[in-house]
Amino acid sequence: MVAVAIIVGSLREGSFNRALGAVASQALQAHGANVTWVDLSEFDLPIYSDALEKGAFPSDALRLKQIFSAQDGLLFVSPEYNGSIPSLLKNAIDWASRPTGDEGPVALTAYRGKAAAIMSASLSPFGGLRGLAHLRQILSTIQMMVIPEQVLLPNAHMAFDAQGQLQDDLPASLITMTAARLVAVAAALRA
Ligand SMILES: Cc1cc2nc3c(=O)[nH]c(=O)nc-3n(C[C@H](O)[C@H](O)[C@H](O)COP(=O)(O)O)c2cc1C
Repeated sequence: MVAVAIIVGSLREGSFNRALGAVASQALQAHGANVTWVDLSEFDLPIYSDALEKGAFPSDALRLKQIFSAQDGLLFVSPEYNGSIPSLLKNAIDWASRPTGDEGPVALTAYRGKAAAIMSASLSPFGGLRGLAHLRQILSTIQMMVIPEQVLLPNAHMAFDAQGQLQDDLPASLITMTAARLVAVAAALRA
């Protein structure tokens, strides 16, 4: 079974990206993935600094890196903040990119050669497009294989019904397509 973690870049109560991640989780499981939900509110991650890293690598940064390292694929679901990704998410990605133990400086054991997919829900009619462009570039820099499919959910405040399901067929079908490809690519890269 392919292991996939979902990381949401918002801590907001009622987050649309968390709701989108929940729908994506169902789709991933339907395609045979073993899903781990990474709730960044459960990780005490200080802003990355070299001094902290050299002093005592934060235990939650190590825990996050270990969770990522155990996956075959990662799904990032994040809002766009001012045309990019939230510092919450960038900081988490940065910590888990750091070498630990005997690893070389660019070992990137949490990420290298694994499959990634990206999704964004936004209040705007553009659906977080600029943020996803940055996220795709960041994940490529840390040597993830980011699949071409992606999900943009514009006008997110009008997108979900009372049960948290998507009201329109188009975004729902894009989520299914993206989940299927992520599972397939993650399995192929692991083999
Ligand atoms: C600091 C900040 C910057 C934002 N910048 C953007 C932006 O550049 N583009 C956009 O579409 N929405 C932007 N938004 C609005 C978000 O789309 C909206 O807050 C959304 O609900 C965040 O996702 P969430 O519901 O998962 O927390 C911004 C919100 C905040 C708090």
